[in-house]
Amino acid sequence: MSLFFSRRKKERGKGDSVVLPQHIGIIMDGNGRWAKKRGLPRSAGHTAGAQNFRTITRYCSDIGIKYLTVYAFSTENWKRPADEVSALMTLFKQYLNEALTDFKDDSIVVRFIGETSAFSEDLRELIIRTEEESKHRNGMVLNIAMNYGSRDELVTATKKIAEKVKNGELSVDDITEDTVSDNLYTAHQPDPDLIIRPSGEYRISNFLLWQSAYTEFVIMDKLWPDFTKDDLDMALEIFAKRNRRFGGI
Ligand code: IPE
Ligand code: IPE
Ligand code: MG
Repeated sequence: MSLFFSRRKKERGKGDSVVLPQHIGIIMDGNGRWAKKRGLPRSAGHTAGAQNFRTITRYCSDIGIKYLTVYAFSTENWKRPADEVSALMTLFKQYLNEALTDFKDDSIVVRFIGETSAFSEDLRELIIRTEEESKHRNGMVLNIAMNYGSRDELVTATKKIAEKVKNGELSVDDITEDTVSDNLYTAHQPDPDLIIRPSGEYRISNFLLWQSAYTEFVIMDKLWPDFTKDDLDMALEIFAKRNRRFGGI
């Protein structure tokens, strides 16, 4: 049992329940700095980060998180040097191939959010296969945000809604907040309760802007490859103590 749960169990009285987030978002940041500190190329940081992604994903599933959204590659990350982008693409392919075998007997449902049409054909095929092979499972939903940008997501949703209005499927007066939510990549999923950003940066970097209207943020001064299960427990403890008011009192 994890540190968090054993400790919480002792503190809890009978009938009390742990305030566990239903949906966690993680901005997996700090791979480059992790590598630099060790005199390694940035790509080595991405490899270490990808390994940690596996550990933390499994842990979230084990402790009963229902939805996990990880930010792996943003719409702005194409600005990086070509060799870094190419190393990341190779890593994604390798990981998806491994994940297909590794997660075979698993209950995790894997989904991709982002504009995946920008990726090479073999990567797109892997993405489709991974989604197909896991879609009938009943465990935690893992959203992997790849070529994801929240502004891009909102523009795409706006276009979809405009198209429905144009076709006469939808009237302007019937557009609600749900219409917007239902046209995002995360349609029909609960909003994130908690977003964790390791690496000490205090910004959202175009991640889940609409969905995070009332999300609790926990910024941690640890680089992603160094982020452990205990760090996740700590974030969960911080979250459990927050008083969420959603505009009420
Ligand atoms: C996050 O780590 C991974 C991606 C954005 C793909 P970074 O590569 O941004 O690492 P830092 O922030 O430069 O340390
Ligand atoms: C956010 O990290 C994107 C991912 C972790 C995939 P960045 O490193 O790209 O964000 P900035 O540039 O520091 O805002
Ligand atoms: Mg970064």
